[in-house]
Amino acid sequence: MSLLRRLPPILRALLAQALAFAVLVALARLGLRFPPLVWVLLQAVLAVFLSRWLELSPRWVFMQAALPFLVRALWGTPIPAWVYLVLFLGLVLIFGGGLLSRVPLYHASEDAWEKLETLVPDQPGSRLVDLGCGFGGPVAHLAKVRPDGVFVGVEASPLTWLVAWLRCLPRANAHIRLGSLWRTDLAAFDVAYAFLSPVPMPALWAKVRREMRPGTRFISHSFEVPGETPHRVLPVKGREGARLMMFEL
Ligand SMILES: C[S@@+](CC[C@H](N)C(=O)[O-])C[C@H]1O[C@@H](n2cnc3c(N)ncnc32)[C@H](O)[C@@H]1O
Repeated sequence: MSLLRRLPPILRALLAQALAFAVLVALARLGLRFPPLVWVLLQAVLAVFLSRWLELSPRWVFMQAALPFLVRALWGTPIPAWVYLVLFLGLVLIFGGGLLSRVPLYHASEDAWEKLETLVPDQPGSRLVDLGCGFGGPVAHLAKVRPDGVFVGVEASPLTWLVAWLRCLPRANAHIRLGSLWRTDLAAFDVAYAFLSPVPMPALWAKVRREMRPGTRFISHSFEVPGETPHRVLPVKGREGARLMMFEL
């Protein structure tokens, strides 16, 4: 069960809708007959129930409730092919950067930004890089509260990068780069922070060990470095088990 709950939200959402649909198919096979709107309502109620059981956040549960009604409303509506193309391109531009590294887009909570702040060395001029900075929340926050530091975000998905870049534009000490974290030299930073997934952690740790100087810090949000014990762990608000793990080089 806990394995299911650790699936990315999109997969849990699809699973909830699929299971709800399977129940409706079984009811229909048993001979139950309802007006179409009642079937849609049943699908929504079951999907909501299953989504809560799979511990999806309230935002996802709301979308799960709305989805069956949306599909019903669009059913049979002629949608031009370019709409699908635009949707596909949008998805690639937002999520494409994480496809190869198998890293989805989700965000650290504001509580995590604030706890991250306490892990940036006090010395003026400290440099931190957010490897896969998403929409730039942590970089924008740190640049605001630590005007004496330099904060860099690296993001591979173009639209996501654009949002982060615009968000950090007012801060002279924040820089958002479009590119791969694997091509970012970590030697220039006092702190490297990453909130990725379990998949890239072994390779990322090898890169950190190769490039970062002694006395610098690597911080992973929630995903462990296999075989390494963090020097500090700070629990943060968000999903169950969310925490910042700091490793000193
Ligand atoms: C889970 S989000 C983390 C966002 C942000 N760092 C935070 O803590 O809120 C991970 C981000 O890493 C990006 N990403 C994945 N692989 C990447 C890569 N190889 N190079 C740069 N960014 C990458 C994804 O596009 C996604 O936006």
